[in-house]
Amino acid sequence: MQKIVSAVKGRNRSGYGEIPEKLPGHVAIIMDGNGRWAKRRGMPRAMGHQAGTEALRSIIRMSSDIGISYLTIYAFSTENWMRPKDEVGALMSLLLRYFSSEIDELDENNVRIRILGDIDGLPDAQRQAVIRAMDRTRENTGLNLSIALNYGGRQEILRAAKRLAERAAAGEDPASFGPEDLEAGLYTAGMPDVDLLIRTSGELRLSNFLPWQTVYAELIFDDTLWPDFTRERYMEALREYAERDRRFGGRNEPPEKV
Ligand code: IPE
Ligand code: IPE
Ligand code: MG
Repeated sequence: MQKIVSAVKGRNRSGYGEIPEKLPGHVAIIMDGNGRWAKRRGMPRAMGHQAGTEALRSIIRMSSDIGISYLTIYAFSTENWMRPKDEVGALMSLLLRYFSSEIDELDENNVRIRILGDIDGLPDAQRQAVIRAMDRTRENTGLNLSIALNYGGRQEILRAAKRLAERAAAGEDPASFGPEDLEAGLYTAGMPDVDLLIRTSGELRLSNFLPWQTVYAELIFDDTLWPDFTRERYMEALREYAERDRRFGGRNEPPEKV
């Protein structure tokens, strides 16, 4: 009963203006530009990351309300460990604060949380917090929120390839392996491919984010710095997506005569 109430509570499409009919099933976002946002205000970078969590709350809520099935966000890459110690520390503390302050509302809104990435490489407290969040929301049936944390796309593919190698070593014929066998070893196993990828802050690159899952994603690069990314900008991106002609290598027009 509790979950039925939550399911209804998790969807509220009013107040967003016109919502395009053709919504992406899976949206992935590279939330970039927190540091520049802070720098422009003469603030420490950590404050930019804090401000970024406010934008995130709003985008998660909107995704859940309008009925996006999968939202995947890039929170910390395997390369982000190269940043100065104090920034990595600030990001890790923020992560703990984020989970303790948001988990009740996310759960109430029927959001299911997954973590994509090497959880074992996280400090103890952070690892326990994310595992608790995944366990607590496992049965939720609303928005599927995946947080890429200590995530690297090449590392993910390598990990999946090693699993295939193990299967081959155990006697399976490698010639029988198809893309779905590799996919089964990805963090995103069982999830659909990305339909729309948004990167904020004007950078035109993917930075090791979901290389396998985005091969046919529509890409939108937005100049907004992540803490300034609003629901209106998000809706504009969704409208732009709705107008794109996705062909997946085939053709959408009727066959030619000749
Ligand atoms: C994105 O903002 C957040 C993380 C990488 C954790 P940045 O910290 O990369 O911000 P910029 O790119 O330096 O402005
Ligand atoms: C990608 O942003 C990682 C996240 C947003 C978490 P970066 O800011 O780390 O990417 P680069 O270094 O500009 O490519
Ligand atoms: Mg950046």
